[in-house]
Parts: sequence; C-alpha cells; structure tokens
Amino acid sequence: MKQGSSELRYHQRNVAIAPQNQPTVSDVLLDWYDEERRDLPWRYAPGQRPDPYRVWLSEIMLQQTTVKAVIPFFNKFISLWPAVEELAAAEREDVLKAWAGLGYYSRARNLHQCAQLIVERHKACFPETEKELLELPGIGPYTAAAIVAIAFYHPATVVDGNVERVVTRLYAVETPLPDGKPHLKELAADLTPRHRPGDYAQAIMDLGATICSPRKPSCMLCPLIGHCVAQAQGIAARLPMRKPKAARPVRRGVAFLALREDGYVLLRERPQEGLLGGMMEVPSSPWTDDVPPEDEHAGLVPVRADWCRVRGLVTHTFTHFRLELEIFRAVIPRETPLNLWAQPARCRWVRRGELKGQALPSVMRKVVAHGLHETPS
Ligand code: ADE
Repeated sequence: MKQGSSELRYHQRNVAIAPQNQPTVSDVLLDWYDEERRDLPWRYAPGQRPDPYRVWLSEIMLQQTTVKAVIPFFNKFISLWPAVEELAAAEREDVLKAWAGLGYYSRARNLHQCAQLIVERHKACFPETEKELLELPGIGPYTAAAIVAIAFYHPATVVDGNVERVVTRLYAVETPLPDGKPHLKELAADLTPRHRPGDYAQAIMDLGATICSPRKPSCMLCPLIGHCVAQAQGIAARLPMRKPKAARPVRRGVAFLALREDGYVLLRERPQEGLLGGMMEVPSSPWTDDVPPEDEHAGLVPVRADWCRVRGLVTHTFTHFRLELEIFRAVIPRETPLNLWAQPARCRWVRRGELKGQALPSVMRKVVAHGLHETPS
C-alpha cells in the first residue's frame, strides 16, 4: 500500500490515531513510560524540576552516540563541571580531553563555546524557546526541541532516528529515508501531546531503543501493538526503508610514531578548524587517495630517524570517508630536534603513562596502540 493513498489515510486515522473511545498513542506511551522508563543519570523523577544544563549536556552527547556510551562521559562531565558556569570557565583543552573517546569532536568545541555564550549572553540561564536555542552553537532542530520539551515542558516535536522508526512503523510509511523525513515529522507532530511533552519525547525514544528496535522489533511486548499499521501488515521489521547510500571513499596516509628513549611519545595539536580540530594526533602525512611512497617520507617525517614500518594498517570510519593509515615507528635519542615542517610549536612530548589523559581521538588511540604493540615488519 502506498503512502498518501486515501485507503492508507483512512487506515491511519483508525489505527495509528485511535478512535475517540480508545486511549491515544501518547496516553499509551506515557503509561508505559511511567512503568518502564530507563533509569538514566540525566533523568528526573516525576515531580522533580529538570536542570536545563544536564538536559542540554545529555542531548549534545546523545547526538550520534548510544545511551550506553554516553553514561560514563555524562557522569564525568557533571563531576568535573556541575554547572554551566563551571564548564564555561574550563580550559578548552580540558573539555576536549574529557570528551576524548566520544567522537565527533566538533560537538565538544561547540559545547564549550555554547556554555560560554549561555553565561555571557543569558546570565547562565538556558533560553526556553527553540528559536533562541537554535542560535547557539551545536544546537540544531532536534536538540532545541528536546531541550524545550524535557527541560521546560513546552510542547515541541522531537524527532531522532528512534522516533522516525517508531512513527514509520505506526503508519507503515514506505517512502524510503531520507526522502520520507518531512512527512514523518508531520506525523510525529500530530502525535505529540500538549501534556507532558518531555516525558512523551523520552518515552518514544525509549520505545525505539528497546522494543521497536531496528532489525528485530519485539512487537509482542509493544504497548502500541494495537495502534501499529506495520505490525498489522507484518512488515514492521522491514521498515523504515532507506535509499542505498553512496559507498564511502577511502583516504590513505602514513602516521609517524616517534618514541623517545626516555619513554616519551611525540604528539601534535591539530588545527582548531576542520576534522578533529584542536585534538591531539600522531604526526601524519595528509590523508589523500594514495599513501605517499617511501621516497617522499623524508619531507614528511617529524624527526630524522631510522623509521621502520609497523605490520598491518590502522583503519577508522568517519562519517564521510574510511581512513587507512600505515604506521612507521622510530626510537630516537632525547635531544633530537624536530623538523620545521612538523610545526614544532604545536608538538608536545608526552610520557607514555600520560597518554590516556590526552585529547586523543579514537583513530589516534588506535594508531598509538598499534604502533606501540605491533612488531616492525
Ligand atoms: N536519545 C537522545 N535523547 C535521549 C533521551 N533524553 N533519552 C533517551 N534516549 C535519548
């Protein structure tokens, strides 16, 4: 059945939006949430006033990351910086260090800048409207809606991947994503109640994360089974449909892991702008279509040394490309000067035991681990 046909619209009215004498989707979801909600460190008990700082912090962290991965980072940030004023006053490098491992590092830079703007422009109080929130760095339509609904109880339609999946199935929308997104947003808006919008947003996200899961939805446990068109048609597990994605291009490069005899490793700060901006890295060649041949390494290495290729490759998948790095390693005496093209002002020797606390993104942690533990080939 095609989306938009009169037959489906009729079906939707009778099923996804319940007849008058039946509880609505939002009633059912809110009852379910009151019994089954996940106990998460940024959530508030019924009747407790949410702290917008904690709501904002959790929503920024949850963009593109799972709840499970976020919990330890959220707890660490709250213990280091319990309020927005403290985060705003922190050194940027400390924020990046605390964020290391959570990925998508522009989120950490925006988070810090946003905290500073909240303090400077809004006297440390989060604005309550989506319009004002959207003017702040790192806050897009999803996050603005989540903050106003959860922190301030204003009706706003929160649509993330979980919500899209639940709504797609409730209405058996067969338009592939991303083309179907605007229609799903309208359907999601129709479902959003004026009453308890924040709990409703979290309820539908929880349902998507636990029961209405991507591959094998547990329809028999679902409180919305009586409302779900896709379940009635036996097609829930096939939805949402997606347009095939273009293959990710591969970029390649060489990373040079310099180890000083006295147990220090050479790291360099990346430029503030661009991918992994402001994070630390193992100095490497530019990442391009092909690895530079070995006879060009002399102009790329951070120090003159006897460089040895380490067996294997380090691979990492970014949103827009896959990276393959060859690793070269050298052990060098203490006083070896750095080559000028390695930009010595941005380089730092870090004791091996202190690598853990550095603002090293996951790809660079892999490079260090591989370079230190693999044998030269
Ligand atoms: N994903 C994004 N925000 C969330 C929240 N507040 N609760 C559960 N999952 C989420």
